[in-house]
Parts: sequence; C-alpha cells; structure tokens
Amino acid sequence: MAEFIPVPPFDLVVFGATGDLSLRKLFPSLLHRFLDGQIPPQSRIIGVARSDLDSESFRKMVHEGHLKFDPKSKIDEAKCDEFLKHVEYVRVDATSPATEWGGLTDALANGNGNIRIFYLSTAPSLFVTIAQRLAEASVATPTSRIVLEKPIGRDLASSREINDGVGRVFDEHRTFRIDHYLGKETVQNLLVLRFANMLIEPIWSRATIDHVQITVAEQIGVEGRGEYYDKSGALRDMVQNHILQLLCLVALESPNTMDADAIRTEKLKVLSALRRIDAKTVAAKTVRGQYKAGLIDGRPVASYAEELGKPSRTETFVAIKAEVDNWRWAGVPFYLRTGKRMGARRSEIVVQFKDTPVPIFGANTGAPNKLVLRLQPDEGVRLWLNMKEPGPGGLRVKTAPLDLSFAEEFGGVRYPDAYERLLMDVVRGNLSLFMRRDEVDAAWDWADDLLAAWEETGQAPKLYAAGENGPDQSTLLLANEGRSWWDPE
Ligand code: BG6
Repeated sequence: MAEFIPVPPFDLVVFGATGDLSLRKLFPSLLHRFLDGQIPPQSRIIGVARSDLDSESFRKMVHEGHLKFDPKSKIDEAKCDEFLKHVEYVRVDATSPATEWGGLTDALANGNGNIRIFYLSTAPSLFVTIAQRLAEASVATPTSRIVLEKPIGRDLASSREINDGVGRVFDEHRTFRIDHYLGKETVQNLLVLRFANMLIEPIWSRATIDHVQITVAEQIGVEGRGEYYDKSGALRDMVQNHILQLLCLVALESPNTMDADAIRTEKLKVLSALRRIDAKTVAAKTVRGQYKAGLIDGRPVASYAEELGKPSRTETFVAIKAEVDNWRWAGVPFYLRTGKRMGARRSEIVVQFKDTPVPIFGANTGAPNKLVLRLQPDEGVRLWLNMKEPGPGGLRVKTAPLDLSFAEEFGGVRYPDAYERLLMDVVRGNLSLFMRRDEVDAAWDWADDLLAAWEETGQAPKLYAAGENGPDQSTLLLANEGRSWWDPE
C-alpha cells in the first residue's frame, strides 16, 4: 500500500481557476490528495479568475470538472463535499491595479502560518503582471511560493523577460516551474532504474547502446486550444519542455545526491551538450508534419486546418534526430517524435542496444535488446531479451520481454496523476522535479536555433492522415540510417 505523509497546512491560490488545466487536472488532483488524508484540514484553496462567479457556483464547476475528467474514480459525494468546503472563489482581473485586489487579500487573511502558494495557470503573458500585483497588494510574503505552468514564453527572449519579471518578486528557490512529465511514475522510475541498480549503469553508454527513441503520441487534436496551439506548434508545446526533459533523464550523469540542484545541474549539462540544428542540417534531421482528415479508431476526424477554421503552417507533428555531444553519448542518436491525432495514445522511451558482435546462432539470432519504458497508458518497463525457445529439435532463438509491468508487480495500487505529486512537492518545498531557470534558458536556446532554421529554409509541414504515425518522412528519418521506429501493434 502506498503511504501518504501529510504535508504542512497551506493556502493555495490558483490563477486561471476556471480554465481547462485547472478543472481537468489541478482540482481533481487536490481532491485525490485530500481523500488520501494528505491535505491538512486548516488548508485553503482559492480559485481566482475574471469570471463573475460566487464560491458556490465555482465549487459546482469543480465538482462537474471532476465528474467529467476523472469519471473512473467514483468518489463518494459526501467526501467530495467535504473537500469542496476548503475551496473558495475570488474574482480578480489580473490586469487590474492592485487596489482592486482586496478580495484576494481578504480571502488570505488569518492564514495562521499556512504556507502560501500562488499557482499561475494562465497565459504566460500575464505571469509578470500577476507577480507584480501580488507584491503591490502585499499578499506575496517573503516565504510565499509561485508555480509557473508551461509554456514559459515562446522563445529565449520572452522566457528571460518572464523569469526576470517574476524573479523581482520571487527568488529562484521559491519559483516552481512545472513540467508535469517529471511527475509521471515511469519518469521517476527511470532515475531509480538507472541509479539503484548496479546492472544498468555500466551498459548505459555508447559502448552498448545503439540509439534511443522518445515518442509522445496523442490521439487528441487541439481540443479548443487552437488559438494558443497555432502560435506554438509541437516543437514549442512538447519538445522544448516535456521531451527534452525526458531526454535529459535518459542521458544525465549520476547526480551526487537526489538534491534538487544536483539533479538539475546534471540536466543542464545534457542540454548544453545538445548539438545545434541549423539551416544546413535541418532538412536531414527534422520532419514537420500536420494532420489532415483521417480515421482514428474507425471514427472520421477533421483536419487540423478544419479544426482551426483556417489554413495554417503550424506543425502538429515533429520528428527530430538529436545528438548529445559528450563522451557517454557521442554517436548515439536520440530520435524524438511527438504528434497530435496519431493512431494511438502512447508515450514511450525505447533504449535500443547494439547487435551482438558475432551472430553465432546464424540468421536466427533474435533481435537486438531493447529496454522499453512505457509512460502511458499502462505504465511499465520491459526488457526485451533473446531466449531459447523451449523444446527439442534444434536451437531456436526467441525474443521475449522480461516484464516489470507496474500493474502486475504492484497490482492494486492507484497511480497518482503527475500533478498530485507535483502539487504536494510544492507544499513540501521540494524543487527536484521542477525546472531551474538555466535549464529553461538552455532548452529555449536550442529550440530557437531549430525554429530559426525552419523559418530560414521555409519548411512547410508535410501532411499525414489523422490516425497515422506522422508523415512518411518520419519513417525515412530512421530508415535512412538502417533503423526503424518501435511501433508495436
Ligand atoms: C501539455 C501540452 O503540456 O501536455 C498538450 O500543452 C498535451 O498539448 C499535454 O496534450 C500532454 O500531456 P499528457 O500528460 O496527457 O501526456
């Protein structure tokens, strides 16, 4: 049974409280933590948005959000009501002067030493203004913390502006930059697998690894977020943050401790070693795609342009050959791929080992070993090995997985959503799973070069039918190097 250690009492203020992320993820996550007894009764959760609502209607919204987005939980109504007693709503227009922020000041009165947290689930263009107003309205105390949702800007310059502006009110050690992929079970398990097993680390390098694949495939389209997404595209939305963070955890050197800065310093070194992609190399190393109409699970699906209501050159798919120029990884490609409206929802890290040096079993020698870390759905780890097929009559080699599937080994345990862990880490003040400013800068610096190279070469996205695994060029990216994507049926 998982153990839940209660966190200290807190006041959590969620800006953008009526938005999709808040209702889909943040409030359902808080509800689960409350039901597991992790949230002390003195804690308060204050939703803030521009809408003219009272606390009762907001609670209703939160309840409906939970029923809609978390239907499998089947939570007792009485317990849900108990949780909702901790939830209030305050109407604030984030752009209004601090003199109009009295509602929030009142709601935060009598905090009795509760840890104060401001969660900014709004457009990044509001981050600096909100931080300033919090200071002017004197609700940001010297110990209060701020949580910034991604995207932090849309390039290095805008991310610097945000970090400078927010940094004038909140020090770095009170700034929690969320990348929810770091809160996923398998992602944390990757660190344990690498650094708690003597078996793995000695083979984790160019000596034995042929290449690494990171795939985050989604079936959903842009789900009413077209206005944001069209200005962003898959590179900014997924690669600059989630996928580069996964790459870092595969590639980093062993941190000396699990201390936040020890881990983040090692991640930064990986980001700094990423080879730049420029106008000369961009065509050979990247593929941009956009979905056209197609079928997903037999259902017809509209094209991106139709969903958006206008033609667009934004990529909804990207595949990249990334390279990490250090001694451990020189010559080992990291193939990265993400897309909307692909055939199946599947996020996986595949570490593909080299072939045996001499095929002494002849043609029937099996496939090279693979370590497959499945992030979602069905979290788990599988190591594909070659075994002798049982029975007499010749020696046949069969490739079979050694299954560390979480469901089988740890059956009956509910896997918390990434946000549940991350929200509780903010209350505990544990920064290990949050991005440090220099990491965000380094990731943007690399992404900016790639974006500039696309711009310079005028690469239009290649179309792929919804329900496919991206455009054909993505298959060729690997096939040209004698490799293929791991796309099990
Ligand atoms: C978000 C992106 O950060 O991650 C979305 O903005 C994407 O476009 C989402 O759908 C994917 O998260 P998950 O946890 O469902 O894989």
